[in-house]
Amino acid sequence: MRERSRVAILISGRGSNMAALIYASRADDCPYEVALVSGDNPEAPGLDLAEAEGVPVVRLPAPPGKDKSQFFAAFQKVLEDHCIDLVALAGFMRIIPDDFLARWEGRIVNIHPSLLPRHKGLGTHDACLAAGETVTGATVHLVTPDLDSGEILGQVEVAVLPGDTAEALAERVLIAEHQLYPRIVSQYLGRARDFDWITGRVGELALAMPATHFQTSHGSPGWKVGTPSSSKFFAIMWNRHHGEESIGVLVKCSGQDEMAQLIDADPEMYFRPAYYGPSDWVGITLDRPSVDWDHIADRLAQSWELVAPRRLLEAGGR
Ligand code: GRF
Repeated sequence: MRERSRVAILISGRGSNMAALIYASRADDCPYEVALVSGDNPEAPGLDLAEAEGVPVVRLPAPPGKDKSQFFAAFQKVLEDHCIDLVALAGFMRIIPDDFLARWEGRIVNIHPSLLPRHKGLGTHDACLAAGETVTGATVHLVTPDLDSGEILGQVEVAVLPGDTAEALAERVLIAEHQLYPRIVSQYLGRARDFDWITGRVGELALAMPATHFQTSHGSPGWKVGTPSSSKFFAIMWNRHHGEESIGVLVKCSGQDEMAQLIDADPEMYFRPAYYGPSDWVGITLDRPSVDWDHIADRLAQSWELVAPRRLLEAGGR
């Protein structure tokens, strides 16, 4: 059985979305477990509920005054100690510093009670009623420094009824939120384990380098550098071949010494692929929830440099 992704939920209040995420995680086929609930308010009622449900809870003291840096440094440590893959904000009422967001880029999500990009920030239901809209909804999105503006991962529509008050609307939207959040978190984590999605990401990086093209190698997607008549592979996808569990990409390394060093330093990320290993191909596991894609881009670039024809390297390469 593949290990489940470890999700931390960050709350400030009652935590009904937190509860929805926890209860959904009890399904056998749910791709995540809630490995931590925490927040900026040690008295938040949602923390008591999480505790009663047997979920690990960390009650950090509320950040004093305006300086949040210490709080987020402490929180970073808690996340690392709990080996967290994804952070889900659920009614977390604090602006998160940019450096923290940069560390969690692509791995921090939020739920917002409107159909973004409409009605960012607070007071969404009043704004929706004031605009006379007949449809509203909820959105799950990635969190970036721009408030409520990260990539939209999923939405659900909710009808506005004649005579609706902001409270009545909030109540109905909340029902939709509880369905949407676990579904989208599962989907988002699932795509990180999907061969076609991973291949698409590797392909974007591989084809961003000069004189590259796609070609299969023994049926596996791969990328070559050179002209179609004279070219060499610098990246080949690996889909649980030869008894290996993982999905990954094979790239060239400088030799057996470097391969040994890489595997030694990070055996969860690197592996020696059967058949390819002796010719200096090293495997990088990619069906993990927290892949550093900048690092993958660097490895692809190094592989490109190792096999690119001299004229391309002399022309300045990448
Ligand atoms: C929800 O409406 C959510 O969309 C917003 O804050 C509220 C949190 O409610 N971000 P709860 O604590 O999950 O019940």
